Amino acid sequence: MVAQNPFELFEYWFEKAKKNKNVKYPDAMNLATVSADGQPSNRNVLLKAWDEQGFVFYTNLTSRKGGEIAENAKVSLCFHWDDMDVQVRIEGVCEQVSDAQADAYFDSRALQSRIGAWASKQSQPLESHGHLLKRVAKAGLKLPMGKMHRPDFWSGYRVVPHRIEVMQMKDFRLHERREFLRNGNAWSEGLLYP
Ligand SMILES: Cc1cc2nc3c(=O)[nH]c(=O)nc-3n(C[C@H](O)[C@H](O)[C@H](O)COP(=O)(O)O)c2cc1C
Repeated sequence: MVAQNPFELFEYWFEKAKKNKNVKYPDAMNLATVSADGQPSNRNVLLKAWDEQGFVFYTNLTSRKGGEIAENAKVSLCFHWDDMDVQVRIEGVCEQVSDAQADAYFDSRALQSRIGAWASKQSQPLESHGHLLKRVAKAGLKLPMGKMHRPDFWSGYRVVPHRIEVMQMKDFRLHERREFLRNGNAWSEGLLYP
């Protein structure tokens, strides 16, 4: 596929992934963060919005990832659409989305998910699963059902990219690797050995 910039190429593959019945989570992306002492950690999060400004996911700001991003905003993302033999790697810097954007997304979530966001002390030690269910029940009773506002410890991050690589697997490991690098507002493209 010929693309003017990495976003056209991302859209092309992401749309294919969403239509592909064998891809269960087309929007799952592996997020790597690095702690203040240099220890990397990674986990999957879901892509909830994207455009040329960046790739947005939502989470608990006091989670392990949230703490690491507060110390070091440089992160990387990796999509792997197994059934399509495509991998997309994105490197960039995290910024928090606006309160208005986070509120709008929070309000669009199912009630149970909103209650869950209030109840979970994400990444902290948990005595038992029963303890979590109790906290969910308590949060559900306490919170006003009509307008449940977003917790201030829960929001979204936008990963503003400066490097995007799209790899298409080819026979005999002669994969095609297209690397896009940001130069101000422009992107340059080159190939990498597989
Ligand atoms: C497919 C998938 C999607 C996930 N999406 C999210 C997400 O969007 N936000 C989130 O906070 N956790 C999400 N999780 C859970 C995270 O992978 C992780 O367990 C959690 O955020 C705690 O990570 P941390 O302790 O490193 O902060 C997802 C897990 C999977 C398997």
